Formats: sequence, structure tokens, C-alpha cells
Amino acid sequence: MDPDIERRIGARSFARLLGEWRPPGGRGLADALADRVRLLVLDGRLPLRTRVPAERELAAALDVSRTTVATAYDALRASGVLHSRRGAGSWTRLPADRAEGGTAQPFSPHGSGAHYDLAHAAPAAPSTHLRAAAAGAVHDLDAHLGGHGYDLLGMPALRAALAERFTARGLPTTPDQVMVTAGGQNAIALAATALTRPGDRVLVEHPTYPNALVAFANRGARAVPVPMLTADDGTGRWDLDLLASTIRDAAPRLLYLIPDHQNPTGGLLDAAGRERLIGLARRTGTPLVVDETLAELTLDGPRMAPVARTGRPTRRSC
Ligand SMILES: Cc1ncc(COP(=O)(O)O)c(C=O)c1O
Repeated sequence: MDPDIERRIGARSFARLLGEWRPPGGRGLADALADRVRLLVLDGRLPLRTRVPAERELAAALDVSRTTVATAYDALRASGVLHSRRGAGSWTRLPADRAEGGTAQPFSPHGSGAHYDLAHAAPAAPSTHLRAAAAGAVHDLDAHLGGHGYDLLGMPALRAALAERFTARGLPTTPDQVMVTAGGQNAIALAATALTRPGDRVLVEHPTYPNALVAFANRGARAVPVPMLTADDGTGRWDLDLLASTIRDAAPRLLYLIPDHQNPTGGLLDAAGRERLIGLARRTGTPLVVDETLAELTLDGPRMAPVARTGRPTRRSC
């Protein structure tokens, strides 16, 4: 195999990964196909240096003309997402690879030419709100200076506020169930330390939040990836059958999942999926670490209650 190629994907697997990519009305097929492949490469669902199927094979698997696939592949080559060499086929890569060759082109997940920095999707901090919050905190400072300041699990007032927030989201929570950490990354590292030992397997989505993988690797645990599929709107979709069989086969010590606006695929696990996930964790006795860092990012669409709410009686039925 060509040294630039690390793996290959068959036409049927590729078709499955693409999900329902066809635009309504069936027009602009090649553009829609190229857009979907570009999205999957940029968010990591289709790994770099993967050899994609030959045009004829993919056309057959997708039931489209070979011209459609050829046009899509041409567009992907032009935007730097695909590279081809005679005799070796075509494989995925990041447009930035071309920058190393000195011919960088702006790119975007939708091919519009606008330039996004996908390495750090962190906009500038909202200074007005931050200043107001910091000023408020300074104003309240005196109330906290009288004590010893050693609150191992976090400031009581903050724990109470967080508990209220979970309660408002549908999961009745008391302050003593809350521990304040220095952010999500710190919480993942603590969970890794508390719940795994070196050599343990941890089931993760693929792709997932990279720093979580670092936390598990630092603990000496081994990640067992379950590939994300693609929903009709291009966001990630969980293959719960595969998840179930992987739990059965790999017997992981821990499940680490991001069911809310999954990083990086944006997927949102629906209520039925949450039920199934909780059922799987319970039946197999596998601790489930749910990363809710992004749970409150919902701009529109359903706002999901915390996964821990799933399967519990509602307050009315208590
Ligand atoms: C899914 C996920 N978990 C955890 C984190 C880390 O959160 P924090 O910045 O609070 O450490 C991030 C940050 O982007 C994230 O996307």
C-alpha cells in the first residue's frame, strides 16, 4: 500500500458512513456528496489517509452515476480533502497538508470558500458579561473571607447553585451530590483516575473529544472506539447496536460518551437512545461517564434532560 495510505474503507461501509446525504429533490447530487465527505473528513469520522472506494464501486453502492462520484471526487481534490495518485487510488487528507507545500487555499465544511479555524472552535470571550460576573464576584468576596476556604468539594453556594440548575433541567439534585471541578477536562481526569486502572478498556465514541483520550491514556487505560454514523442533517448518530455488541465483546471498565452536541460531530442522542444507553450500562454493570460540558449549547430543537434523569420516576409519580 502507498505510504500515504494507512487504511481503506469499502464502498458499503462508506455508503453507511455517508448516511442520507442526498438533497431533497435529487438535484446537485455531486455537490451534496462532496459536501458530506468534506464534513466527515474535517470532523474525523472519516480518518485521514483513508483510501476511498474507486468511483465505479462507490457509484454502484450509492446507486448514482459514475459521473456524479467523479465530479464529487474532483471537487474534493480541488479543495484539498482528497489526494490521488495513479495506481494508488484516492485518499483523504486535510487541506492544510497543501499549506505545507506552500499552496494553502481557504476551505470550509460547505465549500463556500469562507475560512474557519477548526483547530480551536473558541470565539473571543464575551467581555461585557465576564466583566459583570467578575465585578459581582468581587462584590461578594467579603462574605467568603471569614472561613478557612478549604471546601474540598467546592464552595457550598456554588454547589447549591449547580444543584438547582440540574433540578431545573429535570434531574432533582441536592448540593451534596455535586462536586465542583476546575472544568470539564479536570472532571474527566478525576473520573479516569477514580474508575479505571492501567490496562483497563474505556469505550469511547469515534471521533470524540481528544483531550478525554489524553486523560484516559495518561491513566494507562486503552480507548475502544465505536464509530459514529451520520444523521440526515450531517450531525453524528450513534450506532447503538454496535455499542451494545462492543460492550459485550470488549467488556470495557467504563463508558465515556458525549450525548449532547457530541464533540466534534454535533450529534444529540434522542430520548429512546438515552433509555437504551442507560439500560445497557445497567445490564452490564458498566459505569457510564456522561460528559455534559456542551449540554446547554442548544440553540433550537429539543432540550434534553440530563442522561442521569433517564429511567427515573418523575417527581409527580414519586
Ligand atoms: C466534550 C468536552 N468535554 C470537556 C471539555 C473541556 O471542558 P473545560 O474547558 O471546562 O475543561 C470540552 C471542551 O471543549 C468538551 O468539548
